[in-house]
Amino acid sequence: MTKHRDTEAIHCAEGADPVATPLLMPIHQTSTFLFANTAELEAYQAGKSAKDIYSRYGNPTIRATERKIAALEHADAALLVSSGMAAVSTALFGLLRAGDELVCSAAIYGGTMQLIRSFLEKFGVQARFVPIERFEDPAALLGEKTRLVWFETPINPTLRCIDIAAVAAACRARHVISVIDNTFASPVNQSPLELGVDLVMHSATKYLNGHSDVTAGALVGGAEMIKTLGPARKLLGGMLDPGAAFLVARGIKTLGVRMERHNQNAMAVATWLEANPAVSRVFYPGLPSHPDYAIARRQMRGFSGMVTFEVAAGYAGASRFFDRIQVFKRAASLGGVDSLVSLPVLTSQWGFSDAELKDAGVTRGMVRLSVGIEHIDDLIADLDQALR
Ligand SMILES: Cc1ncc(COP(=O)(O)O)c(C=O)c1O
Repeated sequence: MTKHRDTEAIHCAEGADPVATPLLMPIHQTSTFLFANTAELEAYQAGKSAKDIYSRYGNPTIRATERKIAALEHADAALLVSSGMAAVSTALFGLLRAGDELVCSAAIYGGTMQLIRSFLEKFGVQARFVPIERFEDPAALLGEKTRLVWFETPINPTLRCIDIAAVAAACRARHVISVIDNTFASPVNQSPLELGVDLVMHSATKYLNGHSDVTAGALVGGAEMIKTLGPARKLLGGMLDPGAAFLVARGIKTLGVRMERHNQNAMAVATWLEANPAVSRVFYPGLPSHPDYAIARRQMRGFSGMVTFEVAAGYAGASRFFDRIQVFKRAASLGGVDSLVSLPVLTSQWGFSDAELKDAGVTRGMVRLSVGIEHIDDLIADLDQALR
């Protein structure tokens, strides 16, 4: 049948290539999938077909990237979503119900805290935020109604660490679900599932993608856990776009070598800063001076790329440093190949009262570095000129 140009422009040459065998997973940039006839659709609805129907439910590029992320965490399965916060909301709304109690570390990513306070509590979930010191005795954190414990380690921006195995064991003994935000460590440096945690969450925007060009999130765990969370992702609607999933998958290919360099550069930067008289304190879990050095050594294979320090001259000194730095870029995110710098009181802890800052262990003279993978000599020279 001869068709009009307008019709050809739409229909001609679409769908999978019948011959090509690409090296890489193609980007299945489609919102919907074709069915040949009624029988195929009936088989799909009866759960007897591996076909996809609609990309919010599932897409081959998303699944391929999920397999990579699951492999990194030595897990059965993963769910990829449109941001770290979509991962947090999918997990919390998927696992909790009214009347449940959620125990959460008081030092936690600000978005996670706001989501719990602004939304979860509105739906009848009781949240209890506890200072991280109380995680030293995790069994004592659990009450009658505790259904889930949410924590993060290392924690932004002090990089304090929580003993993952101890929290996981206490939760298991009481059939409480343990969930960890593993964003700061990355799967290269820390394997919480192997330490007994039930669910791992990532802002894939950070180290997993690693190039600051994608916003994405992931949940990783056992087959049953991920199956439970599948409907929450589908109905809350936080599915990732296939093009973005491809970029995450591409980023993951170099995660191992990137993390090796992040670890080395950050250790060198932290050691150099500790010896600098303009710096009053350095927070890096790989330094023996860090309060949680022993925990970090036990559960981390490398100490990642985040370094926080206090300028001796307080906020005035921190702001002078911030305005003078050149190789490090002034930006709020982290985990990419580019070195970034932020002032916690103007970003993650913006608007905190003095008491809230004290609880978070944050001071006005603090500077947070996301140490990238540039040449270490350029990074140190930049820090040196900015601190002088
Ligand atoms: C530790 C941590 N968890 C979660 C998030 C939220 O991730 P996203 O910005 O990808 O939604 C962030 C973002 O900065 C983070 O640092």
